[in-house]
Amino acid sequence: MANGKVLRQLIKAGSKGDTNAFRKVSEAVIAEERQKQHHLLANDLEQILYGESPKPSQNTELQFLSEAPVDRERGLPLLDIRQPHRSIEEIVLPDDTLLAVEEFLEENRRCDVLQSYGMRPSSKAIFYGPPGCGKTLTAEVIAYELDLPIAIVRLDALVSSLLGETAANLRKVFDFIAEHQMVVLFDEFDAIGKERADSAEHGELRRVVNAVLQMIDAYAGKSIIIAATNHEQILDTAIWRRFDEAMEFPLPDSEQIRQILTLKLRGVRRQFEVESKSLISTFGNRSGADIERILRRAIKRMILREQEFLTIKDIKQAAVKDKRNKK
Ligand SMILES: Nc1ncnc2c1ncn2[C@@H]1O[C@H](COP(=O)(O)OP(=O)(O)O)[C@@H](O)[C@H]1O
Ligand SMILES: [Mg+2]
Repeated sequence: MANGKVLRQLIKAGSKGDTNAFRKVSEAVIAEERQKQHHLLANDLEQILYGESPKPSQNTELQFLSEAPVDRERGLPLLDIRQPHRSIEEIVLPDDTLLAVEEFLEENRRCDVLQSYGMRPSSKAIFYGPPGCGKTLTAEVIAYELDLPIAIVRLDALVSSLLGETAANLRKVFDFIAEHQMVVLFDEFDAIGKERADSAEHGELRRVVNAVLQMIDAYAGKSIIIAATNHEQILDTAIWRRFDEAMEFPLPDSEQIRQILTLKLRGVRRQFEVESKSLISTFGNRSGADIERILRRAIKRMILREQEFLTIKDIKQAAVKDKRNKK
C-alpha cells in the first residue's frame, strides 16, 4: 500500500481538483506497486486512471472515425479502427522474427533519416504462420510502438452483392488509408478464397483477393500495410514479393513457451517455476493463443476454488479439458 506521504498528496490533489498532480501521484503509486510485484493491482489502478488507454499521451485521437468508409449496401464499416494497447513487451517471438519487427519499427520511427538519403522505410509486410501465433497481436504492437491507430480490414465485409460495389468499397478503403496514417491489417486476407472454394462466389472472391494485392502493390500512401495469412503455401507463390518484408510466426518452441508462461502468469500466485520441463511439455504443439486460453481456464478454477496458489496440476488439468473441447 502507498505510504502516508503519498496518500496525503493524493487527497490534496483530489480536493483541490489538481488533475495534473493527481495523475502524477497516481502514477507514482502504480510504479511502486509494480515494483513490489503487485502486477494485478497495478494493472487495475492503471485501468482506473487511464480508462481504456494505458497511454494518455497518445495524440492520435481517432477524430476521423466519423469519416471512415462504410459499405453502401449494408451500412457496415469497412475498417475496424481502434487505439492499440499492447506494447512489444507483450509478445514472444523467435529471435529472427522479433529482430525483423524491431527493424521494421526502427525504419518507420526514423523514416526522415532514410528519406534524406532518398530511401523509404519498409511499409508493407506479410505475416504468415498457423493460427494463434501472434500475427494480429504483432500488428497491434507495431501500431502501439509507432503511436498510430490500428485499422483491421475484413475482406468479407468488402464484398458486396451490389454490382460494382465491391470495387467501390476497395477504392474507399485505399483512399481512406492513403489520407490517414494508420497501421492497416488485412487480416486473413486470403481466407475467403479458400473457405468458399466450391461456391459460386469463389470466382468473385478470388478476384477481390487479387484486386487487394494489386492495390497493396501500387499503394504509396502514409499508412503501414500488413497482410496476415494462415496459409504457409503463400511462399510458393509470387504474392509475397509484393511486400517489403515477409515474417514467419511459427508455433512456439520450448524456450518461447517458457517466455509466454512467464508473461501470462505475471501477478499470479503460483507454487512452481515456469522452467519446469513437465509444465513446458504440456504445451508441445500448442500456439500462444492455446497457452493463454489454458492458463485462463486454470486460473479461473483456482479462483473459484479459493486456492491460494496456482499449481502445475491445475494447468495440466485445464490442458486436458482444452483438448477434449477441441475435438
Ligand atoms: N507469440 C505470442 N506472444 C504472446 N501472446 C501471444 C502470442 N501468440 C498468441 N498470443 C496470444 O493469443 C492471442 C491471439 O493471437 P493472435 O495474435 O490473434 O494470433 P494469429 O493472428 O496469429 O491467429 C493474442 O492476442 C495473444 O494474447
Ligand atoms: Mg489473427
